[in-house]
Amino acid sequence: MAFSNIVKLATLYLAVCALLHNTKAEEVYDVGDDFGWAIPLGDPIFYDAWASLHYFEVGDILSFNFTNGEQDVARVTKEAYLNCNTTNPISLKKTSPANFTLDVAGDYYFTSTLDKHCLKGQKLAINVPGPREPFNYTVGGNLGWVVSPIGESAYEAWAYNKLFLVGDSLVFYYKNGTQDVAIVTKEAYEKCETNNTLAVYTTSPTRIILNTIGEHFFTSTYKDHCALGQKLAINVTANSSGATALSPSEALSPTNLGPSGSSALVPTSSATSMVFCGYMVTVLSIGLAFFI
Ligand SMILES: *[C@@H]1O[C@H](CO)[C@@H](O)[C@H](O)[C@H]1NC(C)=O
Ligand SMILES: *[C@@H]1O[C@H](CO)[C@@H](O)[C@H](O)[C@H]1NC(C)=O
Ligand SMILES: *[C@@H]1O[C@H](CO)[C@@H](O)[C@H](O)[C@H]1NC(C)=O
Ligand SMILES: *[C@@H]1O[C@H](CO)[C@@H](O)[C@H](O)[C@H]1NC(C)=O
Ligand SMILES: *[C@@H]1O[C@H](CO)[C@@H](O)[C@H](O)[C@H]1NC(C)=O
Ligand SMILES: *[C@@H]1O[C@H](CO)[C@@H](O)[C@H](O)[C@H]1NC(C)=O
Ligand SMILES: *[C@@H]1O[C@H](CO)[C@@H](O)[C@H](O)[C@H]1NC(C)=O
Ligand SMILES: *[C@@H]1O[C@H](CO)[C@@H](O)[C@H](O)[C@H]1NC(C)=O
Repeated sequence: MAFSNIVKLATLYLAVCALLHNTKAEEVYDVGDDFGWAIPLGDPIFYDAWASLHYFEVGDILSFNFTNGEQDVARVTKEAYLNCNTTNPISLKKTSPANFTLDVAGDYYFTSTLDKHCLKGQKLAINVPGPREPFNYTVGGNLGWVVSPIGESAYEAWAYNKLFLVGDSLVFYYKNGTQDVAIVTKEAYEKCETNNTLAVYTTSPTRIILNTIGEHFFTSTYKDHCALGQKLAINVTANSSGATALSPSEALSPTNLGPSGSSALVPTSSATSMVFCGYMVTVLSIGLAFFI
């Protein structure tokens, strides 16, 4: 292969790798989903509820869909939002769909400037969090990882309203020899089929790094522990943008991942692609070195 072709190939691979690395593209959110942007009759917290279902990131777009002339969209200050004062909005759009790009981290407030629409609940407040450091979550808090007297709801309550991002860790504390931590599929979790695990860890504390977006399921392989409610389901909502991402070498060697007890990684396909990229880049650099 000619030197220039190797360079081209190397560049292509690097570009592909960069794409694989940067998986989260900006998302377009249809405000209010199918209901769109209107007065939420009889449901004054409709837009609060809608906003609470989403995790917004810098670069995402809010798309307001409404009937021209019957609605408009004003971005307003917090004070204006709280008081429904629409006399002097930051910006105002009157044509649907009206798109707002969430270009910086912070709070955003929207309402309609039309007669009493704001007072009737046509108002939206959202938060776009800035980057944060990865977080270590102690599963169950002071309870630790046990069969709780209140069953499964103990871990449901613990996970409720917590924000899990890629790079965060779950730390399971228990007495060695009395518990273990099993990573399982959703199906195994639901049926408590603890003979069917993805990984099992037996030394406390067990630290598991969450490295993929989506649902993750944990239980114990000890007899009846799952059925008695020693089970945890969590949702990893997004990348902790800006926080230190795992390098492929870290992702492959759990022993590097910290001094406290055993560490583990939730299986990931993106780690595999990154390793593949690392491999291709190495191969290509050797090829390149050979030609120079
Ligand atoms: C998360 O975001 C960081 C910074 O934008 C990026 O370097 C990293 O590759 C991302 N990781 C994933 C899994 O998307
Ligand atoms: C906007 O709303 C109209 C009617 O309410 C609907 O027909 C249309 O499909 C919506 N558009 C989008 C992009 O959701
Ligand atoms: C509404 O806001 C404007 C400035 O944005 C202010 O001059 C006015 O006094 C406010 N009205 C009320 C009722 O607070
Ligand atoms: C707003 O976003 C929607 C959804 O991506 C798109 O279809 C529409 O063309 C955008 N409108 C404007 C004015 O940019
Ligand atoms: C686990 O046990 C159930 C019955 O309790 C059985 O149906 C299933 O095939 C077993 N799974 C594995 C992977 O052994
Ligand atoms: C569990 O065992 C490991 C390895 O023997 C040890 O480092 C750790 O301190 C033990 N944990 C507890 C809670 O006893
Ligand atoms: C995770 O989020 C999805 C989509 O919002 C939801 O359907 C699912 O029930 C959630 N899973 C858990 C374990 O909370
Ligand atoms: C999380 O735990 C690891 C391993 O004990 C430690 O190196 C890291 O500093 C902790 N991170 C935070 C934010 O406490």
